[in-house]
Amino acid sequence: MSQTKIESILNENRLFQPSNEFITHSRIKSLAEYERLYETAKSNPEDFWATLAQQELHWFAPWDRVLDWQPPMAKWFVNGKINISYNCLDRHLTTGRRNKAALIWEGEPGDTRTFTYAQLHREVCQFANVLKQLGIQKGDRVGIYMPMIPESVIAMLACARIGAPHSVIFGGFSADALRDRLNDAQAKLVITADGGWRKDAIVPLKEQVDRALADGAVPTVTTTLVVQRTKQEIKMQPQRDHWWHHLQPTVSAQCPAEPMDSEDMLFILYTSGSTGKPKGVVHTTAGYNLYTHITTQWIFDLQDRDVYWCTADVGWITGHSYIVYGPLSNGATTLLYEGAPRASNPGCFWDVIEKHGVNIFYTAPTAIRAFIKMGDHLPKSRDLSSLRLLGSVGEPINPEAWMWYHQVIGGGRCPIVDTWWQTETGGIMVTPLPGAIPTKPGSATRPFPGIIADVVDLEGNSVPDNEGGFLAIQYPWPGMMRTVYGDPDRFRRTYWEYIPPKDGHYYYFAGDGARRDEDGYFWVMGRVDDVINVAGHRLGTMEVESALVSHPAVAEAAVVGKPDEVKGEEIVAFVTLESTHSPTEELKKILKNHVTQEIGAIARPGEIRFSEALPKTRSGKIMRRLLRSLAAGQEVSGDTSTLEDRSVLDHLRQGS
Ligand code: WTA
Repeated sequence: MSQTKIESILNENRLFQPSNEFITHSRIKSLAEYERLYETAKSNPEDFWATLAQQELHWFAPWDRVLDWQPPMAKWFVNGKINISYNCLDRHLTTGRRNKAALIWEGEPGDTRTFTYAQLHREVCQFANVLKQLGIQKGDRVGIYMPMIPESVIAMLACARIGAPHSVIFGGFSADALRDRLNDAQAKLVITADGGWRKDAIVPLKEQVDRALADGAVPTVTTTLVVQRTKQEIKMQPQRDHWWHHLQPTVSAQCPAEPMDSEDMLFILYTSGSTGKPKGVVHTTAGYNLYTHITTQWIFDLQDRDVYWCTADVGWITGHSYIVYGPLSNGATTLLYEGAPRASNPGCFWDVIEKHGVNIFYTAPTAIRAFIKMGDHLPKSRDLSSLRLLGSVGEPINPEAWMWYHQVIGGGRCPIVDTWWQTETGGIMVTPLPGAIPTKPGSATRPFPGIIADVVDLEGNSVPDNEGGFLAIQYPWPGMMRTVYGDPDRFRRTYWEYIPPKDGHYYYFAGDGARRDEDGYFWVMGRVDDVINVAGHRLGTMEVESALVSHPAVAEAAVVGKPDEVKGEEIVAFVTLESTHSPTEELKKILKNHVTQEIGAIARPGEIRFSEALPKTRSGKIMRRLLRSLAAGQEVSGDTSTLEDRSVLDHLRQGS
């Protein structure tokens, strides 16, 4: 975050109380009530979670132990039998929700479809039966590479129904990135679509799958299932590729949900870390179901009549937890939107809110900042009076953006829940409960009940109020990741031993810097590791560097984030070239395209700077701190005495 943003957060002391009208209908109505819940959960976490698990979820068979904690390995609801697809669908069919809208889809250009709970259940059963027909069994991993269409949600629930862990790969990832993830997960089948709509153009998803699978590059994948969306000509490979709309009429609409063990794997979701290789974050069934269920209910203050809209993509954890599993487990109406704001349709989000009477709206600061630039006239010319609650996720929200969101979108009446969490945590960890916790612009406020969050130094000592430190969690929670797929050591090292355990106490290290103020409010400052957050997308600097050095022109590359007014951060790559190549504008473009091809457009560097050498310590480590200052156009401050060759810095300053 830029210095000015940090300063504005440090000086922020406005406090916003929820309105009486909001409180009257809200689930948790006062700070005292939140604090009671928090203390109950803290003094006896197992009882707290067990009571909720009993009350809120359907079980095929009860658990015999709430928690088995062999740090850092946790098992929740040991030996319980449960199915999240059952909890998201079947159990609502015998209630008044049977004919309630479960999923409203707003597609591009202008298509709309609505599924009631009964209809969604039917489609999921059919999809599950097709997967079975194609040879998928409990435990087989299934890749999902899809646009934002109802079949993405249906496919996820169908996998969960038969116990086949899914691995959703964001549709913006390139064929190369897709191939690596499918290989790591050893997926057996890939669900995709002919294409998807993205900013007025077709994304050729099936073509990318063909590329990823070409020449037997993913030996485990023998089958693909293709949903028809954009209807352009695509090549179908006989034996391997199957159309969903051909198979759907051949199967029954009945498919009982498979009783899964609480700890059976529900999904793998790849996310970026400090090393070049993305991590397969593993989430299991019961704990994830409970955690996403209860966080959705309390944080978004769900009422049965609400239309709830989260603008994330299903390819990210926010889509998993807060478009699909959390809302559906609660029997809510969840909205899925295929479009994105763009020059040809800058007011599309406000149109969707007006058209569907959205009550709860959950989006990212980067989108909010982009809207501010587009001008107030767009939201002001729409009827946004249906909105009751607003949410923010993905990166720190600066107070200016928070105030605009509050006033212009929320009309001053909607509380804002600024929710801090991660792919690894499964669900929201630090957040206001909107009827109970007064908000401060830029603060994610207080930990969710059951979450023992702290700001610590690297020895695990709590730091005093208002001093910077590392955000850490002290005790396991049901939604936490269970391991890194295929690499339990990495799980242990990265998250639970980064802060050395003391007297049997383990800290979960989140990788974020934070401070806690005198009211116990958390202010998350951003990543402290080699992860950058570009427009709410999480990218590893090493990942982008590996992509760059895989190009023959590149000898060495160092990637840093530079503050960006809209995207939060922007990628700047410092590149040294092989002697066979010269630095040209053309080569910059080629390298940017190369990264797009290797990872996807989200990783495309905003800026490439050629340099004769990179600043390194005497032990050969690249000094990113210096590069970050240079990229931001700041004076290089602090200690440079460890720099091996000071002339490198002078060259970089002059800008080559
Ligand atoms: C950042 C997204 C500040 C943070 C759910 C975290 C946030 C990373 C917030 C996880 C927030 C997310 N305030 N920072 N409200 N929410 N972050 O795994 O740096 O894609 O570690 O999960 O996003 O990104 P991920």
